[in-house]
Amino acid sequence: SDEFSLRPQSLSQYIGQSTVKENLQVFIEAATMREESLDHVLLYGPPGLGKTTLAMIIANEMGVQLRTTSGPAVERPGDLAAILTALEPGDVLFIDEIHRLPRAVEEVLYPAMEDFFLDIVIGKGPSARSVKLDLPPFTLVGATTRAGMLSAPLRDRFGVMSRLEYYTEEELREIVLRTAEVLDVEIHQEASVEVARRSRGTPRIANRLLRRIRDFAQVKGDGSISSSITNEALDLLQVDKLGLDEIDHKLLRAMMDRFRGGPVGLDTIAATVGEESHTIEDVYEPYLLQIGFLQRTPRGRIATPSAYHHFQVEVPR
Ligand code: ADE
Repeated sequence: SDEFSLRPQSLSQYIGQSTVKENLQVFIEAATMREESLDHVLLYGPPGLGKTTLAMIIANEMGVQLRTTSGPAVERPGDLAAILTALEPGDVLFIDEIHRLPRAVEEVLYPAMEDFFLDIVIGKGPSARSVKLDLPPFTLVGATTRAGMLSAPLRDRFGVMSRLEYYTEEELREIVLRTAEVLDVEIHQEASVEVARRSRGTPRIANRLLRRIRDFAQVKGDGSISSSITNEALDLLQVDKLGLDEIDHKLLRAMMDRFRGGPVGLDTIAATVGEESHTIEDVYEPYLLQIGFLQRTPRGRIATPSAYHHFQVEVPR
């Protein structure tokens, strides 16, 4: 798909996350020299920062196949057994949302990760029997929005743990320029700065906005992305000057207008804006915390004076 071809295919094409990248480069090179599979890798951090892309790149750089699944998709131990026994030596198994693996499945994963064998119970009651199977060496790449959501035994079995950070404006601008080139659309320098500034540190958002702006440029302009088309499109998309969208606005306005800035509990905020608590916690809160618009306290979330300032609302006394 379009989305797929936009992804960088190698570490050298991957922009940003320099610490993660430099470390992975070494571990990949060392494993390759020893002709071993790469140690298991846990990637954690907010959504849209490139965890799936990195899993693809790891497989590419190791010259092996990538198998992809997700925590909620692997419902029973047998599902995991089917996936693991189909792997070829050295393959990368990517499990997205790994914190959502059922506990019974997790337990099958421990010996598979540690010693490359499978220990599963087949059947029920008196006829149940335990079957041990050797597995090819493989690399598990797990992705999660928060490492704290993983059980300790699972977390401990990853040899590499890398936290992805929000991208800088300059990194995002580079990504936007690269994507524009892949999409074969002309973009002005100031327009790329504007998209970068309004993408909440997140390449997935930057690339999505770029595609929508391209639509506006094609229909309302001459096809090239100028800063005036960009500003017009982003305003119509209800993305504000800092990149905050309608949901960020609803969330912060609810806190300021209905709860005097808090402290207010996550579930109360979620009910007020009509979003799932975990969506707010994993998708919206991290960036608002990062830019200092929100704070977590033991008694709940509070909107900071910076948030009030952004909305030009007077801070309550
Ligand atoms: N597209 C999305 N994320 C990217 C990244 N980190 N580097 C290059 N291109 C990207």
